Formats: sequence, structure tokens, C-alpha cells
Amino acid sequence: MNYEEYIASHRDDFESRLFDVLRFPSVSAVESHRSDVRHTAEWFRELFTGIGLYAELIESEGHPIVFAEYIPPSNADGRRQTADGSEDDLSTIMAYGHYDVQPPDPLDLWHSPPFEPTIRDGNVYARGATDNKGQFLTHVFAVESILKTQGSLPCKVKFVVEGEEESVGSRALHQFLQTDEGKQKLACECIVVSDTSQFAPGLPTITYGLRGILACELFLTGPNRDLHSGTFGGSVFNPATALTKILSQFTDENGVVQIPQFYDDVLPLSERERSQFAALPFDEQEFLANIGLGTGFGEKGYSTVERRCARPTFDINGITSGYQGEGSKTIIPSKASAKFTCRLVPNQAPAKIAEAVRSYVAALIPPGITWGLSMQHGAAGMSLDLDKSKFVEPMAKALEKTFDKKPVFTREGGSIPIVAEFNHVLGADVLLVGWGQDDDALHSPNEKFSLDGFHKGILASARFFA
Ligand code: BES
Ligand code: MN
Repeated sequence: MNYEEYIASHRDDFESRLFDVLRFPSVSAVESHRSDVRHTAEWFRELFTGIGLYAELIESEGHPIVFAEYIPPSNADGRRQTADGSEDDLSTIMAYGHYDVQPPDPLDLWHSPPFEPTIRDGNVYARGATDNKGQFLTHVFAVESILKTQGSLPCKVKFVVEGEEESVGSRALHQFLQTDEGKQKLACECIVVSDTSQFAPGLPTITYGLRGILACELFLTGPNRDLHSGTFGGSVFNPATALTKILSQFTDENGVVQIPQFYDDVLPLSERERSQFAALPFDEQEFLANIGLGTGFGEKGYSTVERRCARPTFDINGITSGYQGEGSKTIIPSKASAKFTCRLVPNQAPAKIAEAVRSYVAALIPPGITWGLSMQHGAAGMSLDLDKSKFVEPMAKALEKTFDKKPVFTREGGSIPIVAEFNHVLGADVLLVGWGQDDDALHSPNEKFSLDGFHKGILASARFFA
């Protein structure tokens, strides 16, 4: 049996193992799920050892990192002797993913429970189906398929799958990468990541850029307790009003971010890139219809694709203040807070933007309001020059053969915090090849992953590794 036949005959087995791991509620942001997160890591370690790889958990103050490695049998240190006795280095390829998931809330909007994987219309519905357990598993099953049928691989392979991507921007993996042990363990020439989506269904996509992120939380306090809005209305500044006034000044009516210096380091889009974006098959009405809208909005002067992939933004993620229960309650709340994020583009430094945000907020605080601003996490954006990478061509070939179309190249609006660091610290080419779709509802209720995408992902990945 060759690896393609193995893949074709193991569809049920691959799906059943995918469902097993989707049953773990590995919500990294929620303390009560700590042991579920660990069990998921252990499940991955067993998966790796089960296919004959060396595997271990790397412990951290947060959640464990799972590391696994395959060394070709020819020689223990992975070098093979050539006929003239010289040593010929094999390439090392590493697949990266995250086994943690976003919280499943709001639960009542799910059509089937988030941690009971359910198939409908050729998709599996579960939290983490596409982001990122299902997508990551494709590379493990690809390597398994080759090993089980050929006995060896023509390259060294490493896997790193971590549990803090969704909560604290990969803190443990970031720290591990600062150590000599981490640099040596994770050393590789190419990193394959499937944690993005295809530009259109069935259209293979190589993503060469990601946006960065700065996540903040602003806390305002006014009076020392909630006040009667009749007795006290007119005598104090209301923190909820203060919050809305401040937040409303972060963007203008053209969608332009108003934080001073925010755009200072943003590189202009080249004409070449703009025409490349314009040539992508994007149907704006369909895109909007999918999210229940007829009209979109964004920074003036840029197309929707440009605004999503390559322009920085400011977004409020959540606002909290005052009475939110049933009926009315006439108070001036004591406190108000908001979580917000800026998506950043390459060359914008998260720390510099954080300072700009802090100064801007300080200047907008009204009288009688005290404030605090916490920075949750930051990550730089990136854009890779893949022209020189020797791994693009084999990947493009594997994608074309599997999806019957040449891949398109684009940038992604989301962030995968560790990817830019991998590139800088390890000097590796990062190939982002996602099998997901834009309507997979990642971070939303009813997250799904197409089973067709799952199986084709396994095949494409196997062709690449082979
Ligand atoms: N898989 C996503 C990245 C992504 C988002 C790809 C949208 C394709 C489309 C990743 O797991 C993610 O959600 N990242 C977070 C990072 C944050 C929590 C630091 C993000 O982008 O919000
Ligand atoms: Mn995510």
C-alpha cells in the first residue's frame, strides 16, 4: 500500500481520532479547564508516540507544550552518508499548531454541544474543529501515512503543538524560544502551519503575511459605589459616559484610527501587492451576505481585501458597566470597562503602539474619573518574502495536485503570535497553508471544519512531506 492508498482507506479512522480530541474542552483562558488542557496535551503526546515518534511535554508556568520529532533511521543524528563519505544534511520541517480553544460561549446559540463533535452537511461542528485541532492533525496523519507505508521520510520532521495561543498569545512557547534548549529543539528550515483559511472554498492558498495584535483593557472608576441617578445625577461624571466618549474617539467616521502616531510606521502598499489583492476572487456582496449584512464599513481609500489583510484597525471587543439585568435600575455606575484590540501590520511595534494608546487615553480622561489600562498581549505582524524559499514550489505542487488548482498567495487579517518569532528566531521559512473556510465560525458558536478539507489537507500535506 502506498501512502495515498493508506490515506484513502483510513478516512473513518482519521475522523474518529479527530472527534476524540475535539471532545476535550481545552479552553486555555478559563482556569477551571486547566486539567482538560493538560489531558489534551497528553492525548497529543500519545498520538505522536503511537506513530513511532519521540515525544515529550515541555512544562511551563502556564500550559504544557507538546514536542515531537522524527529522525530518519539512517543515522541517529539525522545526517546520511553520501557515496563519497561526505555528510548530506536533510531538511528539517516542523509543523506548528495549537491544541487550546476559545471559550465556547454563548452556549445557547450552538445547534449541537461544542464539545460533542457532530457531522452535518459534510462538516464537523465543534469548538476547535478548524481552529486548530482539525487543521493541525492533518500534518500528523500525513506523516503517519508515509511512515506506515514507506517506513521512513525523506526529511527530518518536528511537531510543536501548544496550549496558549488563544489566551495569552503563546507565552510559554515564546519563553521557550528565548532559551538555548528551545532554539536547539525547535531548529528547522521550514515551518508548516495550517491555522488560516483558504481564500475561497477549494482554492488552495499560501498565506505569506499575518496581522499582529495589541490587546488592551481599560478600567474606569468614578464614585466609590453605584449612586442613585436622581439624587446624584448632574453632580458627578458618569464612568459609563466617560467610557463611551473615550472609545468613540479611537476611530473617525471614515474608519481611520485616531491614536496619534498610530500610522507612523505603517508601510504603504506597493502597486504590485495592490494589484495582486485586486486579482483575488472576492465577491463583496457574498462576503457580506454570509455575515448577515448588506453594507460593509472600513478605512476609506482601501478595498475590503486590503483593509482585512494589510491595514491596521481598532476594535472594541466588549464593554461592561452598570445594570444589565431585567427591567430598569436608575443608577450612575461606579465602574466601567472595555476590552479592545488593535490589529497591527508589519513594521508597527506592539510596544510603541501600547505607549501611544496609553498617552491618548490619559489625555481623554474626564474630571473625577480614575483609570487603569492593562495590556493583555501583543504580537508583531509579518509579511514574508517567499520568492527565495525552496519550500514554496514543492508545497505549491502538492496543493495543485490535491485541489486541482494553482494556489493563490494572500495575507491574513488574523494573528498567530508565535509565527513572526519563529521566523526571526529560527530563521525558518513559514508556510501558512490553511484548509479552513472564512465561514467556519472560528471563535463563534457553531464552529465547523469541512471533512473534505480535512482529508484533502492530509493528502496535500503528505505529498509535501513525501
Ligand atoms: N487561527 C487563528 C488565526 C486566524 C484568524 C486565521 C482568522 C484565519 C482567520 C488563531 O488561532 C487566532 O485566533 N489567533 C488570535 C490570536 C490572539 C488571541 C492573540 C487572533 O487572531 O485573534
Ligand atoms: Mn483562534
